[in-house]
Amino acid sequence: MSRPDDRLAPVVGLAPAKLNLTLAVVGRRSDGFHELHSVMAPLRLADRISLAVAVRPPDTLHVVGPGGGTLDAAVYGSVLRAIDETRRAVGRRAEAVPLAVRLEKRIPVAAGLAGGSSDAAAAVLGALAAWGAELEPTERSEVAARLGSDVPFFLAGRAALIQGRGERVDPLRGPLGGPGVLLVTPAVALPTPTVFAAFAASGGRGSGSVRMTSEHLAGEMAGGLRAADLVARAGVLAAANDLLPAAAEALPGLVAFRRALFRVLGRPVGLSGSGPSLWTLYPSEDDAADAAHVVRDALSAGDIPPLGEGQPAVFVTSIPEGPPR
Ligand code: C5P
Repeated sequence: MSRPDDRLAPVVGLAPAKLNLTLAVVGRRSDGFHELHSVMAPLRLADRISLAVAVRPPDTLHVVGPGGGTLDAAVYGSVLRAIDETRRAVGRRAEAVPLAVRLEKRIPVAAGLAGGSSDAAAAVLGALAAWGAELEPTERSEVAARLGSDVPFFLAGRAALIQGRGERVDPLRGPLGGPGVLLVTPAVALPTPTVFAAFAASGGRGSGSVRMTSEHLAGEMAGGLRAADLVARAGVLAAANDLLPAAAEALPGLVAFRRALFRVLGRPVGLSGSGPSLWTLYPSEDDAADAAHVVRDALSAGDIPPLGEGQPAVFVTSIPEGPPR
C-alpha cells in the first residue's frame, strides 16, 4: 500500500487472490467454524483499490469490472465494512475522514480465491494509510479476523500457514522462483458456507493424509521451496483438500469438469479453497500461458463439459516471491 507525498492524492494498492496449496479441516469449533491447517499463497492476479479523501460522509464505493463497466457495489460490501471496523479500531488516535473508494475487480466472486476477503484486507491497510493512522499488529489482526476467516492471511503479504479459523498466520519463505499457476474458474458461484455445510452434513471429518501433506508442505515452504520442487509435488497437493468431496456434492458436474481438465492438460488439478476454481502448477508463468492455450482450444472443441452459465474464466498467473507488486 503506497502513501503518496501529496496527502490528498489517493492511496493505491493491490488486493491479490489466494491459492490453497493444501486445505486440511482438522476439527469443528464450538462457534460452528472449522479448524483448519492450510498452506495459502497470494497470486499475482489481483484487484486494484484506490482510496481518496472525500469531502463529506458517508464513505463511498465505486466498483468497475475488467472491461471497465460499473458493477453493483452492494456485492462488495466487505470493503465498506472493513473501513467501518478500521475507523472504530483507530478511535480518537487519528482523524478518520470519509473515504471515496474505487475498486477494480479482476478476481471472480465466490470462486475459492478469497477476492472479497483480500479487498477487505486491502481496505484496512488503505484506510490506515489514507488517515496516516497506525494500529498495533495484534489490533490489525483482530480487525481482520472480525471481517472474515480469510482476511488475516492477506496482512502477511506472502505465503503462510493458516490455522485456527484462519486467524493464526505463520508466514512462510517459499515458494521461490515464481511458480506459474493456471486457474480455471467455472462460471458459477459456489458460496463458502454452502460447501462447509455440505462438509458438516457428510460427517465433517477431514482425512489424516491431507493433514500430513499440509504439515509436510508447511515445513518445506518454511525452508524456501523452489518452484520446480513445488511443481514436483503437485500430484499430492492436488489431493490435499478436505473440501473437495463437499464442493463436488454442492456443485454437480465439478468432478467431470476437473477430470476433463486433467485429461487435456496431463497435470494434477487441484481445487482452491471451497472452489470452484481449479489450479495446475508450472515452473513459470510462461509455461502456464502455454497451458492456457491448450485449455482454450479444448473449450472451443467441446472437450471440456459445460459447467455453469457460459465459458469458464482462464487466468494465467504466478505466486510472487515476497509481497505482490
Ligand atoms: O469467515 P467467513 O465469513 O469468510 O466464513 C464464511 C463461512 O464459511 C462461515 O459462515 C462458515 O460457514 C464457513 N467457515 C467455516 N470454518 C472456517 C471458515 C469458514 O466453517 N474456518
